Amino acid sequence: MGIDSCFNVMDFRRIAKRKLPAPVFHYLDGGADDEWSMRHNVSAYDDYELLPSHLSGVSSIDLKTTLFGRSIDWPVMIAPTGASRLFHREGEPAVAQAAARFGMPYSLSTVGTTRIEEIAAIGEHPKLFQIYVFRDRGLTREFVERCKAARYTALCLTVDTPVAGNRERDHYYGMMATAKPALRSVPSMLRHPGWLYRAVVRRDMELVNITQAENAPKFTDMSVKDFIDSQFDRSLTWQDVEWLAAEWGGPLVIKGVQTVADCRKAADAGATAVMLSNHGGRQLEGSPAPVDCVAEVADALRDRLEIICDGGVRRGTHIVKALALGANACSIGRAYLYPLAAGGQAGVVRGLELLHDELARAMALIGCSSVTRLDRRYVKRRR
Ligand code: FNR
Repeated sequence: MGIDSCFNVMDFRRIAKRKLPAPVFHYLDGGADDEWSMRHNVSAYDDYELLPSHLSGVSSIDLKTTLFGRSIDWPVMIAPTGASRLFHREGEPAVAQAAARFGMPYSLSTVGTTRIEEIAAIGEHPKLFQIYVFRDRGLTREFVERCKAARYTALCLTVDTPVAGNRERDHYYGMMATAKPALRSVPSMLRHPGWLYRAVVRRDMELVNITQAENAPKFTDMSVKDFIDSQFDRSLTWQDVEWLAAEWGGPLVIKGVQTVADCRKAADAGATAVMLSNHGGRQLEGSPAPVDCVAEVADALRDRLEIICDGGVRRGTHIVKALALGANACSIGRAYLYPLAAGGQAGVVRGLELLHDELARAMALIGCSSVTRLDRRYVKRRR
């Protein structure tokens, strides 16, 4: 089965599973504890029904909208995910190129395997840098300065990771934060010699923005959990967000909030947007599905913040539901990572094409000719 026989996002997952060493696939695919939040992020969309308004004249469908003060071609953005070269040798640049082609924002993770400046040189689409605040503030300041110099559109602070979530699949399969395989994972790695060669000989999976920084922290080979727990600053408060907003001075996105109270604190601290998110179900097990948080936050704060629904998006109809409930846009993680693992840039382009077509089709079927006109008339919560 190749990418041409994929007709929806989840079809790519099967190829990804075949192509990746087991620890790497399960790092991509897995979540925290019993993975209830992860599954619920997707299934919560089933609690909403779409209400069509027929004979509304849908000869043209306009998917364009605005985000972070920029015009975008459709209301979807690429969520930040770490170490894309673990999943395919083309890594972050492949995804950023595909995002440029689809006129959508691309987010680079702090723990990416491509330099801030290299991503900045790709395309004219909006770019975000997702920042984790390290114990060493010098490193954070350095990131902010580099993003300013590289003219990033927005900074995105992830706030749901003071400690690592309990991702048990990483323990079972021996996933490491550095590309060095754990002993337990060696048999699976040996079945993927190309991957092993890149990890051990070419060493192209380094977290370059951290390891090559002037203020680079010292760490040796360790698990993902130990990396997060030893490096990230868990003393962070909303005062630090005020500090970051002032230091950066541009659009600031807070990622990982879920309540109206936290979103209000984000706006008060100087944020311009929030990503309603539970980190794809990888952090706090039991936290609500992002789509269930949208309506309340939109009702309270839509005039102060842009609202991005991040997590569980697998279908075009999911995007319609989130926007009808009040989100400005959706953000996708695994929906581009499975295609990346399955076929590099070509895979991501095909994955985005399918999602884009699904969205345009759903808009025609619901009888709404512009995503900016989606509202509660088009959606109902099932009893
Ligand atoms: C992530 N996510 C994430 N978030 C973040 O702020 N910084 C990061 O480095 C990462 N890394 C990461 C790796 C992998 C493999 C996954 C799957 C996710 C979370 C990501 O930005 C996003 O919130 C979720 O992926 C959204 O859920 P879906 O779309 O995957 O269901």
